[in-house]
Amino acid sequence: MEGYAYRQYEEAAEALRARLGGFAPRVLLILGSGLGELGGQVENPIAVPYGDVPHMKQSTAPGHEGRFLFGTLAGRKAAVMQGRLHAYEGWSFGDAAFPVRVARLLGADTLVVTNAAGAVNKGYSVGDIMLISDHIKLFADSPLQGPNAEEFGPRFPDMSHIYTPALRDSAREIAKEQGITLREGVYMYFPGPQYETPAEVRAARLLGADAVGMSTVPEAIAAAHCGMSVLGFTLCTNMAAGVLDQPLDGEEVIAAGQAAGPRFAALVKACLACMA
Ligand code: HPA
Repeated sequence: MEGYAYRQYEEAAEALRARLGGFAPRVLLILGSGLGELGGQVENPIAVPYGDVPHMKQSTAPGHEGRFLFGTLAGRKAAVMQGRLHAYEGWSFGDAAFPVRVARLLGADTLVVTNAAGAVNKGYSVGDIMLISDHIKLFADSPLQGPNAEEFGPRFPDMSHIYTPALRDSAREIAKEQGITLREGVYMYFPGPQYETPAEVRAARLLGADAVGMSTVPEAIAAAHCGMSVLGFTLCTNMAAGVLDQPLDGEEVIAAGQAAGPRFAALVKACLACMA
């Protein structure tokens, strides 16, 4: 695995700076499946398709627009990604994490990451929002494989607190104020694109997972490596395979994301406002 040279991240950041007229994002917000709508609330947005960013790969997943919106959201200067890069599209973990490192170079010190996932925890319901407390990614790749870019962080970074405890504390409080049921649990990464088998879901539950999904982990690892705070939310768009006696359907996943959109958006925006 070759990875990127530090110079390539710098070239991407430089090309973006040239488009941003002095605007420097403090937060990178990644919007997952069906959640891209929140991008519509960015004030004075500067849109940059991923294809315009040197070295950055394209987003091909359904419901993923494939562009950055730079602007103010809930009073925070943000880089919002409408759509992300996944391993199931054929991209490496390094590709998926590329925009995180570029955002870091632009000045972002916080990653707010969202995703759609299947609920493994039988106490959860479809439509529930889960605050990510930690993740499990046992054997798939790492975005940090290849020569280490010391400019970003150490070769063997600590991952004890990827999902920043103080940000989780305030997310819990905000959800309470808003009357939103907020679960809190462990997200387990599966590469996809096929959904998990019922046996994989049982294994995930035994290992301590509350939800299973195909994203987020590459970006969160890269963010933690370069010293960014991380706040992660999962929208449980379906019960994971085998929990209910019915097949999973990608269209339903997107529809559930859209149905929860306003509630999800309100929570994310209040969390951003709180960071200001
Ligand atoms: N598994 C993996 N990824 C997902 C799921 C799921 O059940 N639902 C939405 N994304």
